[in-house]
Amino acid sequence: MRTALYGPDGFFVRERPADHFRTSAQSPHFARAIAVLVADVDRALGSPEVFDLVDVGAGRGELLHAVLAALDAPLRARVRAVAVEVSARADDAAAERGATTGTGDTPGADVGPGTAVSWRTELPRGLTGLLLATEWLDNVPLDLARDGSYLDTDLNPCGPLDPADAAWIERWWPAGPDDVVEIGRSRDEAWAEAVGALDAGLALAVDYGHRRERRPILPTVTGFWNGREVPPAFDGSTDITCHVAVDSIAADRADRLLLDQRSALHRLGVTAQRPPLALASTDPVGYVRALAATSEIGELTATGGLGAHWWLAQWMNLDAKKVPFLHE
Ligand SMILES: C[S@@+](CC[C@H](N)C(=O)[O-])C[C@H]1O[C@@H](n2cnc3c(N)ncnc32)[C@H](O)[C@@H]1O
Repeated sequence: MRTALYGPDGFFVRERPADHFRTSAQSPHFARAIAVLVADVDRALGSPEVFDLVDVGAGRGELLHAVLAALDAPLRARVRAVAVEVSARADDAAAERGATTGTGDTPGADVGPGTAVSWRTELPRGLTGLLLATEWLDNVPLDLARDGSYLDTDLNPCGPLDPADAAWIERWWPAGPDDVVEIGRSRDEAWAEAVGALDAGLALAVDYGHRRERRPILPTVTGFWNGREVPPAFDGSTDITCHVAVDSIAADRADRLLLDQRSALHRLGVTAQRPPLALASTDPVGYVRALAATSEIGELTATGGLGAHWWLAQWMNLDAKKVPFLHE
């Protein structure tokens, strides 16, 4: 999975995620909610001189640019936006947009606060602000197992489990001898590493996944290509994704919140409300626009769809009581 996605000819090294699947992060309403969260976290941090807004697995930077556009100008002027993306072609996208490209390890070494986005292949550390990871964890490579053995890409046994993976399975995914387990330990570790980049602030992962009481019966590993779900190919020709065992991530931390996207967006003021019918006669264009917004928000919050995605928030040196989203 690692080689197929991130190796020299890996899928994400060559392809643009938005060409192959739709995600919440592509919606302006989602970006508006994140902008509300940025403002709340900024206030709780006492409005630092520089507010780091970092997107891990930023794709082509669609979310970062939309969030920046949705912020009030004075706050935007203090934001240092960094897109972390393994794909070298992210640099091309940055160039297309006229944004500055960075390659160093220090956040904002070459880009000051404002509207520019700097691009990195590695996550900078020492951040104060908001770290985002939308549909990143589902692309963090993992191993499959059955009955005490790892499985190869044809689902044949290929070696005994190491003790750390066996312990993860025992705690998080107790399974029968015929069941395939998707070992989420690599996601737990990737998340802990990402959160470790924060000196102060909030880290937010948004992804599809499941909790222990409702683990999937069949493997969720699948591929996407050109907007369609396809069998996963391990030669770099398709996306390979696998649902996230969200409850194992930062499980033993008290400074963490897990809720579904529908509730999260409601907390941030994004709800689907039909515009008043009277608007149709006074402002027909405005009415049609408002209807379109309602339907887009409806898609983001649909109970059986994107609304069931998970928001996992974890904070560091932040007074959670000052961030309404974290305690409503
Ligand atoms: C499914 S796409 C999500 C893109 C975007 N965040 C969205 O929600 O639409 C996952 C992205 O994460 C990137 N990625 C995966 N692992 C990464 C890592 N360790 N560092 C930076 N980017 C990574 C991939 O290259 C890919 O562009």
